[in-house]
Amino acid sequence: MKKTTRHIPVLLNGSVSHLVTNVDGNYFEGTVGFGGHTEEILSRLSEKGRLIGTDKDVKAFEYCIKKFKNEQRVSIFNTSYTNIDTIAKLELVEKFDGIFLDLGVSSYQLDDPDSGFTYREEAELDLRMNKNQGYPAYYYLNELSEEELADIFYNYGEEKKSRQIARVLVKSRLNKTLKTTTQLKSIIESIIGKYNLNKTLSRIFQALRIHVNNELDELKEILNKSTDLLNPGGRLAVISFHSLEDRIVKDYFKYEAATCVCPDDAPVCVCNKQQRLSIITRKPVTASDEELQANPRSRSAKLRVAERL
Ligand SMILES: C[S@@+](CC[C@H](N)C(=O)[O-])C[C@H]1O[C@@H](n2cnc3c(N)ncnc32)[C@H](O)[C@@H]1O
Repeated sequence: MKKTTRHIPVLLNGSVSHLVTNVDGNYFEGTVGFGGHTEEILSRLSEKGRLIGTDKDVKAFEYCIKKFKNEQRVSIFNTSYTNIDTIAKLELVEKFDGIFLDLGVSSYQLDDPDSGFTYREEAELDLRMNKNQGYPAYYYLNELSEEELADIFYNYGEEKKSRQIARVLVKSRLNKTLKTTTQLKSIIESIIGKYNLNKTLSRIFQALRIHVNNELDELKEILNKSTDLLNPGGRLAVISFHSLEDRIVKDYFKYEAATCVCPDDAPVCVCNKQQRLSIITRKPVTASDEELQANPRSRSAKLRVAERL
């Protein structure tokens, strides 16, 4: 496979430095992508260290299988990171010393017209990370009710004109089945105009992508599984790219780091809550000016790290 757009790994040094605390340890990377972070993690591990990775995307998976074909310490699976527990069993790993997620999509996926992730090129509006699973985005645009579409645009894209956009989409599909990125773009342009068009398109594409790939539920699922699968001292490091993801990570860390979750007015603690994580990054780590200059995609990246007690 030709890699047309180079994916530059974000917050590379900061994330891997926080993640790797045991050079002989077992690590899980849920989002190997094009292996940028994978390479860096491996460079910090000894010969005894191991890295088990997943990616839903077939092209990313095939690319990494070739890239790491001579690397004995790596096993990669073409599946969702939510299967971390099953994969750990298959690989005979009881606990990990670090679990890493670099969420969202790679620059390659965004720029590959076959992926239908971009509104900059004419393509089938697909948006699936794994093209062999589920339905493409255009299926939902044609099948869901106006209300369901509006909720997706509002909840996952925080789009203020969600109701109006859904109404116009439902009206347009009466004349012609919706299938392509440019069809969606021109419908949205007819509502928004050219000013602010790209920002609205980004929000709508983000919303559809989150829905199609069930992204927020999958993130909650792996977070819930991760703490049980970490050795004491093991780290959970997550890079998120928008506020919906970041809020989920932040709330999860906060909950697992709490010693009591009783209501504020409870006279004594009765919850028996166990603190399981300690938060390493009180504030999320963001890109330096230098990184922002070199890689504009790092603009919205936020790294949060917690440690298993
Ligand atoms: C930002 S990219 C990772 C880039 C990678 N860190 C690198 O340096 O090349 C995110 C990757 O996560 C994958 N992905 C997103 N959600 C996933 C999930 N639930 N399970 C497995 N892979 C997922 C995407 O297909 C994409 O390749």
